[in-house]
Amino acid sequence: MPDTALLDQTRSLIRQARSIVVLSGAGMSAESGIATFRQASTGLWSRYSPQDLATPEAWRNDPALVWGWYLWRMAAVRAAQPNAGHLALAKAAENRPLVVVTQNVDDLHERAGSREVLHLHGELFAHRCFACARRCSEVPIPAVDDEPAHVDPPRCTHCGGRIRPGVVWFGENLPEAPFRAAVEASQSCDLMLVVGTAGVVHPAAALPSLARQHGASIVEINPQQTELSTLADVCLRGGAAQVLPKLFDASPEQLG
Ligand code: APR
Repeated sequence: MPDTALLDQTRSLIRQARSIVVLSGAGMSAESGIATFRQASTGLWSRYSPQDLATPEAWRNDPALVWGWYLWRMAAVRAAQPNAGHLALAKAAENRPLVVVTQNVDDLHERAGSREVLHLHGELFAHRCFACARRCSEVPIPAVDDEPAHVDPPRCTHCGGRIRPGVVWFGENLPEAPFRAAVEASQSCDLMLVVGTAGVVHPAAALPSLARQHGASIVEINPQQTELSTLADVCLRGGAAQVLPKLFDASPEQLG
């Protein structure tokens, strides 16, 4: 847990801020039991290669492998619960302008009650047809299993094309509207909390420096040092579910 002086410094930045942006990454959901991407021992990419699973080429090459892997991830998210960090952010947004800009494709921010969530890398449950792009609301999600299996993706009822996950794959463009809104929010906020991201995937990783160029203070919440640490005014070395409640659940007198 970070030292009290750094927590107090961050609480003071929160108190003074007219608008806050939270940029979250996979670490935000780690304490909900959802694997991160790059953590050496447990990260998803240490067990599965992105090139084999998260690209349009991988989909064309073996749609059943890719769909089976995303079904496994969907089942894991369905079985998970928002953690105290998600809940603290949702509560904080009730009485101050706070926008969540997330690289995560899970729905844990929303299930915690956050209303303004911008998904830069798409959404796990926003399935759509690979051929005609029509949205597909519900697909059968089997119970979470040990490992992904080959599962033939369902077919689009409109054109018969294969249904794909609604996430952004490597080599694909980010959805325009959420990204534009994230840039605007980063340019106009007074404070950006960067929570649980290694800060290595662009253009999301460029948002903290954009916020800083426009006068925002930057606070990093991460147990590890990252590519973004040198940019931060304050680095809180701790887990999101431990630190965020300490920042926002503080009683008024603690906020000074
Ligand atoms: N609380 C906060 N941060 C944590 C926690 C935690 N409990 N546990 C781990 N972390 C940190 C790690 O130290 C690491 O810096 O979360 C970060 C996770 O980094 P990545 O696994 O690289 O995830 P992320 O930065 O979100 O990846 C960005 O890369 O593969 C693509 O599209 C994918 O959205 C993803 C993007």
